[in-house]
Amino acid sequence: MLSKTKPTKCTAKVNAMKLRSLPLSGYFALLFCVLPGAILLLTACGKQGAESISPTPAKPIVSTFVGDADCKECHKKEIEAHQNTRHAHALRLVNDESMKGDMPAAGDLTGTPFQWEKLPNGYGFGLANEASRPMHLAFGSGKSGIAFLAAMGNEAMAEAHLSYYPPLRKWFVTPGQASLPPNTPGNLIKREGALQCLGCHTSTVPENTLLPEEKLLGVRCESCHGAGSIHIDAMRRKDKAADNYEKMGTWGAGKLNDACGRCHRTAKDVETKSLDGTLTDKFQGFGISQSKCFQKSGDKLSCIVCHDPHTDTPQKSSPYIAACLRCHSVGGSSSTAKPALMQSKICPVNAKDDCIKCHMPLRSRPLFEGSPRRIADHFIHIERNKDKPQ
Ligand code: HEC
Ligand code: HEC
Ligand code: HEC
Ligand code: HEC
Ligand code: HEC
Ligand code: HEC
Ligand code: HEC
Repeated sequence: MLSKTKPTKCTAKVNAMKLRSLPLSGYFALLFCVLPGAILLLTACGKQGAESISPTPAKPIVSTFVGDADCKECHKKEIEAHQNTRHAHALRLVNDESMKGDMPAAGDLTGTPFQWEKLPNGYGFGLANEASRPMHLAFGSGKSGIAFLAAMGNEAMAEAHLSYYPPLRKWFVTPGQASLPPNTPGNLIKREGALQCLGCHTSTVPENTLLPEEKLLGVRCESCHGAGSIHIDAMRRKDKAADNYEKMGTWGAGKLNDACGRCHRTAKDVETKSLDGTLTDKFQGFGISQSKCFQKSGDKLSCIVCHDPHTDTPQKSSPYIAACLRCHSVGGSSSTAKPALMQSKICPVNAKDDCIKCHMPLRSRPLFEGSPRRIADHFIHIERNKDKPQ
């Protein structure tokens, strides 16, 4: 039964500690003391995020994260496709330049005890009658909720009690904080949990802070392809043998879905992290893995059969229907330029159209009462009884 479960917000297993359990003055002190340190560290970039691939034991070479700008000279097409996507904006700095139209208006937040305050160097959140705390990071591209967090040195992040929903210009209680007293400014997320958030919303984080470098914020080229310095060196020297990047398009579906599923959740995540297995919409890697289309197609149904990894989802269903028809049409023919993948069964109800509406329907996953958030069920199946989806 798909119950209206409490919003799980990525169901990250965060080590959240109730702010209430700290003396409030301690919270302020911690926040304001660690801040200068955090800012210093933010500008001290360099040796973080190394990924060892050591091709020969004698001379280990380490690939480091460089940022998208360094890919542009050779991959203009991918850069242009990707730069304004939801992936690229999955994590942003809290300033007008990066947030643009998604920045909430400053002022007291009507109907709540809180304010969103414009500060000399950014924005802050707090009780309307007190000094607000500077917020550094905005999680979420603005398609649905945006959560605001303050990096507190290397130890923790503070998450604002309210999150913002740009499509409706509305504030709502941050998922996971509903049980806190209504005038609590926020939650503390300890380092271990904060690193989990950052691991899925950015390429890499420096060792001594919880603030990623600006050029590495969001799901970037290197989030999927890995740290880029070795590839770039190899390509500049035209030494293909030294290239460590793989052609992901040649991977089997299982391997590719696991790569996307690192953030979009796999069957293994659901099993080992006790995630709610009815959420086949939110956990897309898991959802696909449960589908007969995946299980019986011989490693063919990967995310990129339906999604272009470098762009957002198109706001129409025709590309997805074309994807279904690469396996479910007479003679295996397809209505697009893309070749058939295999010949599977034909729908007795509608062999040509509207597949998504019936077999991958949108599920309501409200972030607050009346929230319009809906996510396509990635468990492709036949819904025999609408009241009892499996
Ligand atoms: C100096 C030019 C250059 C730069 C800079 C560069 N690439 Fe490439 N890249 C290439 C070339 C050339 C190929 C094609 C290699 C081939 O066909 O074997 C390639 C191929 C790729 C591939 C396909 C896999 C492969 O190795 O064939 C990916 C993915 C890729 N690049 C990503 C990136 C990313 C991400 C960056 C930035 C971190 C980047 N590239 C920077 C030149 C470059
Ligand atoms: C490093 C983590 C990470 C990886 C790896 C990743 N994603 Fe995502 N993806 C995200 C996050 C975070 C969002 C939410 C962005 C936002 O805030 O709207 C997202 C959003 C999306 C969306 C929704 C875009 C839209 O238009 O709303 C699609 C589709 C998607 N990812 C597909 C993929 C596919 C396919 C892969 C593998 C090729 C992949 N993702 C790999 C983290 C990741
Ligand atoms: C395992 C990877 C993962 C972890 C850990 C994670 N997120 Fe996400 N987050 C995602 C993905 C993927 C999406 C996009 C949801 C979708 O479209 O399916 C997302 C979406 C969001 C959104 C947009 C609102 C929404 O729910 O759609 C916010 C805000 C957010 N995450 C904040 C956080 C915070 C804060 C943390 C840590 C407490 C966190 N995330 C941990 C992967 C992750
Ligand atoms: C969400 C994961 C993801 C992100 C982010 C991402 N890529 Fe890719 N990229 C892929 C996958 C998966 C493929 C294989 C696609 C295919 O073959 O259809 C790919 C293919 C490529 C290729 C080979 C193209 C080809 O036609 O063979 C290049 C080059 C590339 N990516 C560069 C980049 C650059 C540059 C960025 C950053 C602007 C980037 N990618 C961001 C997942 C990603
Ligand atoms: C890579 C090939 C492939 C693609 C793409 C694909 N399917 Fe399938 N699908 C299959 C295979 C194989 C089966 C199993 C048929 C069987 O039972 O022998 C299947 C089974 C199904 C079933 C029956 C499920 C059940 O539980 O009995 C439905 C419904 C379905 N697909 C719908 C879709 C829809 C809708 C799309 C597009 C969103 C799609 N498929 C895309 C290969 C694919
Ligand atoms: C058979 C086609 C198909 C496959 C395969 C598929 N998706 Fe989707 N996906 C869809 C459809 C249809 C939508 C909903 C349409 C839309 O949002 O534009 C969607 C939407 C999404 C979204 C946006 C969810 C939101 O918050 O609105 C994400 C994220 C996503 N897919 C991730 C993935 C990942 C990761 C994989 C691989 C594990 C994957 N998808 C495989 C068809 C597919
Ligand atoms: C109006 C809802 C609806 C639409 C639209 C629809 N289907 Fe179906 N589909 C069903 C139902 C209901 C069944 C189960 C029929 C039965 O078993 O009597 C089904 C069965 C199937 C099966 C299993 C067939 C078998 O022999 O076991 C596949 C595969 C399938 N659909 C794929 C698709 C594809 C691909 C599309 C789009 C081209 C599509 N469906 C459009 C409702 C729909």
